[in-house]
Amino acid sequence: MMLRLSLLLTLLSHSANSVLLGWVESPGYPSGYLPHATLNWSRCAPQGHTLSIRLIHLDLEDSQGCENDAVKVFSNGNLISVLCGTREFEELQSTINPSLLSSPGGCLSLSFHSDFSNTKRHTGFRGFYTVQDFDECEDDPENGCTQFCHNFIGGYHCSCQHGYHLGVDKQTCTVHCSGDLSGLNRGDISSPSWPGSYAENANCHYILSVEAHLQLELHFSGVFDVEQSPGGQCIDALRIETSTGTLGPFCGHTPPPSPLLTHSHHVKIRFTSDGFGTNKGFTLHFRTTDKVCPAVVTSHSTATPQKPEYHQGQTVTVTCDLGYVVNTPGSQTLSSQYVTTCQSTGIWTPNYPCEPVDCGFPDIPEDGILQLVVSDNLHTQYKDQIQFNCSSKYYTLEGKDTYTCSASGEWVSVGGETQMPKCTPVCGRPEKEPANTGRILGGRNANLGEIPWHLLIKEPNRGGASLINDRWAVTAAHVVERAEETSLRLYGGLVDGRTTSNRFSDVVVIDSERIIIHPSYNKGMFLDKRTNFDNDIALIRFASRVNFGPNLIPICLPEVNRGLVENEQGTVSGWGMTEGRTNLVTSRMLKYAHIGVYSQNECQNTPYTSTNSRMIFTENMFCAGASGKDSCQKDSGGPFILPMLSTGRAPYYLTGIVSWGSPCEERRFKGYYTKVENYVEWIKETIDKEEKSLKGER
Ligand code: ARG
Repeated sequence: MMLRLSLLLTLLSHSANSVLLGWVESPGYPSGYLPHATLNWSRCAPQGHTLSIRLIHLDLEDSQGCENDAVKVFSNGNLISVLCGTREFEELQSTINPSLLSSPGGCLSLSFHSDFSNTKRHTGFRGFYTVQDFDECEDDPENGCTQFCHNFIGGYHCSCQHGYHLGVDKQTCTVHCSGDLSGLNRGDISSPSWPGSYAENANCHYILSVEAHLQLELHFSGVFDVEQSPGGQCIDALRIETSTGTLGPFCGHTPPPSPLLTHSHHVKIRFTSDGFGTNKGFTLHFRTTDKVCPAVVTSHSTATPQKPEYHQGQTVTVTCDLGYVVNTPGSQTLSSQYVTTCQSTGIWTPNYPCEPVDCGFPDIPEDGILQLVVSDNLHTQYKDQIQFNCSSKYYTLEGKDTYTCSASGEWVSVGGETQMPKCTPVCGRPEKEPANTGRILGGRNANLGEIPWHLLIKEPNRGGASLINDRWAVTAAHVVERAEETSLRLYGGLVDGRTTSNRFSDVVVIDSERIIIHPSYNKGMFLDKRTNFDNDIALIRFASRVNFGPNLIPICLPEVNRGLVENEQGTVSGWGMTEGRTNLVTSRMLKYAHIGVYSQNECQNTPYTSTNSRMIFTENMFCAGASGKDSCQKDSGGPFILPMLSTGRAPYYLTGIVSWGSPCEERRFKGYYTKVENYVEWIKETIDKEEKSLKGER
């Protein structure tokens, strides 16, 4: 027992401040442990302390890798030692015990187990555990003190050399180097300890503040030496903060430009250093001058008259660069200029930014026919280009296809037009044409798509009309005069006049919105007593736009002074009277006949009415026919086209409108037609006026 105690004293004396906390030993020690014996032990060190286990005896069954019986020691759960067999005290003391140490504030645990196969009894192990102070200053290079470190039991504290004080983190030594110099119009500022090397871990800020009409001017003199990395980065740094931004960081050997005009009456000078280095720092003198307004009022503009700087009360005109405009508040229009005055505060008032011109989405109809070719995003700023095309092959683009956003914010074509292009219908070009070869009276049946502009009217009078664009048709005034104030239904895309119900998908049913009879047409006469069909023409506007297709294509209007030549061959078409088995009947199918234009003399020889008055022939008519071929009752309003319908002669023009004639039964084969070329101006003007007034309504 005496020996043990003295031994323990020598053990403990190894570390000065060790406190013995207790013992740990194998079950049954020292008589020996049994098979299947286990022991689990664990203790933690208080903060700033470490825990040690010191084994004084170890006698376990020895095995390869200690797989039979073993003592395992863990530090914070990590295995640090596995022991078995028999060890001498000296060996335990010199090689094993020093490693059985926790981290500061950490935990040690020990587990012992034996297996079943002990051949011979082993006494087991015994050790004690101690807790001792951890010396952060000596043993922990990571301790946070930037200058002096003082260890105490359970912790440490930092202190600073003369001239420094401990920062808020209680570890970093810094210097007092800040100052509020507000109100001073001149003075000097230097890095701490100037002209000696500046202090480590400095975080200085000097506040300068003068009257609002003054600005602070900084003059750097003498050495400028602020620590910089070989790569040019600032390790320590000088920064000058003004009301508009921060200048710097500055470091190395080149001082900031001097004198430095801050254009600001509030300036903060910031100097920071890290924990190392011996650089001298900086020194500066500050004073004030009047504030001046900068030469550049706003970006993307020029000021006139041009000066390097401006003083209070001076006025300039700001002109935005080409492609930039100023959006002056309160005004709806874009302008590129404004006048501004330099204030005593060095600020231009007013100060509007020059912003890039944006032409916006072009003003095009909503019907979707004229469309923009857009690849990714639509860019609509100055110099951006847009391209147009027509969404349907039944239209052609009239005008330029490319427009550029101009500096004035307008879309302009290469030719200088600001009007957007238009998609106009392709007229007079059927996709199918009859073979070169006639009753309406003496005609033949048309196939679908061969006369795709011919529209059928059933009520209140059977007649025809011609499609001239996607919203309008032309017919004879006498066909629609009874319907002028009401509405009319037309059918397109058909040849069989009985297929006008919705069951026939090819048929296009069109309702009229407005009927405009030529103002000079003499309305209100009974048809059979009428002797004057002058100006027998009317326009029909549809309630909605029609979609063109192979069976619905408009006819072209003739040139104004084209004129008609005797014997010129054209084609008339209609669903009117045709030869039946015994007498004339209304045709079910659309028929056409090729007829020739008659001479003036022939035309002047007009028929008489049933009441024996002579019909009137005017300059607004022509007459045509052929032997055995003529238009007939109920063909009225339908087209007479030139040239004659046959392959390869497109485009076709609406030259005449079936108007009147003597009854077909009389077999004179001479019909009278409205001379469309005399009305082209009226048609165009009327449509234009109507569309404009409707647009205005919206
Ligand atoms: N006025 C007739 C109609 O309303 C057209 C007569 C044409 N007559 C002629 N012989 N071409 O249908």
